Amino acid sequence: MERTFAIIKPDAVASGNTGAILAAIEQAGFRIRAMRMTRLSRPQAEGFYGVHRERPFFNGLVEFMTEGPVVVLALEAPGAILKWRETMGATNPEKAADGTIRKRFGTNIERNATHGSDAPETAAFELAFFFTGFELL
Ligand code: RTP
Ligand code: MG
Repeated sequence: MERTFAIIKPDAVASGNTGAILAAIEQAGFRIRAMRMTRLSRPQAEGFYGVHRERPFFNGLVEFMTEGPVVVLALEAPGAILKWRETMGATNPEKAADGTIRKRFGTNIERNATHGSDAPETAAFELAFFFTGFELL
């Protein structure tokens, strides 16, 4: 079993797609191990996406991720990290495969409905960023 970290981003929460995305997560075969609705502060968003600090889209990304509530999740499945990336689809919803979450619920390359960890190290960092060990038992 493997765990990964997911966010239902502010665009998808605001457009009323939280429930549909949670259903898609469960239908894809993930167990939801922890979940919380929260709103990211600017320092939290900057810290979470710190690897992108030098990218041209960084300020817009922080602005977007702090604009409204998000849902943070710990997901569990065999091969969860890659499986969740595949379930989400490509970063740009226009390029995402049919049936993927970003294709169904994303708007553009920035407002793309969900986040997913991209490697075991980032999954560990991101799970610990939002959840205590107690919540993840
Ligand atoms: P994420 O980290 O959110 O799961 O997305 P990702 O791995 O597919 O893409 P990444 O390269 O890590 O980018 C993080 C998020 O930044 C926004 N973005 N905007 N305007 C742009 O060109 C641009 N590129 C990326 C997206 O919200 C992307 O998910
Ligand atoms: Mg990423």
